[in-house]
Amino acid sequence: MKGHLIQKKDNKMNILITGGAGFMGSHLVDKLSKNRDNKITIFDNFYNGRKENIERHLKNKSIELIEGDIRNDKDIEKIGKVDIIYHLAAQSNVMSSFFDPDYALSTNIKGTYKILRFASESKGKKFIFLSSREVYGNPDYVPVDEKHPLKPVNIYGITKMTGEMLCNFFKQNHGLKVSILRVANVYGSRDKNRVIPIFLNNIKNKEDLILFGGKQVLDFVWIDDVINSILQVSGTNKFIGETVNIGTGVGITIENLAKKLIKMTNSKSKIIKKKHRKMEVKAFIAKSTKFRINPLKLDSGLKKMIEESL
Ligand SMILES: NC(=O)c1ccc[n+]([C@@H]2O[C@H](COP(=O)([O-])OP(=O)(O)OC[C@H]3O[C@@H](n4cnc5c(N)ncnc54)[C@H](O)[C@@H]3O)[C@@H](O)[C@H]2O)c1
Repeated sequence: MKGHLIQKKDNKMNILITGGAGFMGSHLVDKLSKNRDNKITIFDNFYNGRKENIERHLKNKSIELIEGDIRNDKDIEKIGKVDIIYHLAAQSNVMSSFFDPDYALSTNIKGTYKILRFASESKGKKFIFLSSREVYGNPDYVPVDEKHPLKPVNIYGITKMTGEMLCNFFKQNHGLKVSILRVANVYGSRDKNRVIPIFLNNIKNKEDLILFGGKQVLDFVWIDDVINSILQVSGTNKFIGETVNIGTGVGITIENLAKKLIKMTNSKSKIIKKKHRKMEVKAFIAKSTKFRINPLKLDSGLKKMIEESL
């Protein structure tokens, strides 16, 4: 069945979602909690996540919140038995990792190691790792398939590449059933500190939109399409040991995105161009050779975002 976990015979699934109070994690909780047989543990230190993202689930007896840090063994010891782990907890963006590399390195590498070690302690677990298109760096060709060499150009990309290597280590040495998802730029409700919510906030506050360069090409993928893709990957054994790109296959420059948003909102905000930032990748468009999605068109997703935020 599309987008659903393979249920055990007694139908109970113990699911751990690290980073479950964040943007993508909370959407994953929304979706997985629709199946009442799922017992979900949300593990988050609220570094970037928000209680309000998961508030409505906290009265549900099948959902437990552990306020903990993936770098802390004592916090990890509080997690009970799990059948599947969605590992999303991370310093999750390029600029924050640039400004606080210690946090990015300790969480995305050491924290990922500790969660993998926890997962490997009992056999049979599935481990879904949320990696990023940032592992490819400035690509040699677009669209970028999974065979493209990994040459990250920023700390965030380096931590995600290392996270992938750790996943492969645990797969080879401990038989962990790992799937790696290299996700393009996700957008949707509850997102913050990324280009679309930032531009919409600027428009709302009648501020100008600042572009750093502006010629960068990005592949924006709607949150529901990503959540459905994650569940399709985790819901079959076909993707165990596989690395999969998730994106739309369609790119847009940041400048055209800014123009589009200004037009769609009839805004008087202006576009101000500043110098390109070296740590930002110049182009990414995903080619998934193993997995197909039927993505929501960017205009439709942006319309939803505009209705919600303005
Ligand atoms: N949003 C995107 O465009 C995108 C694209 C590719 C990959 N990803 C990856 O997907 C995952 C989810 O991203 P998101 O957009 O939801 O980001 P997010 O920042 O909203 O979510 C990450 C969550 O991890 C939590 N966290 C951070 N450090 C932690 C720690 N040490 N211990 C426990 N919890 C911690 C945060 O509080 C937050 O709730 C991340 O791993 C991110 O790198 C995101």
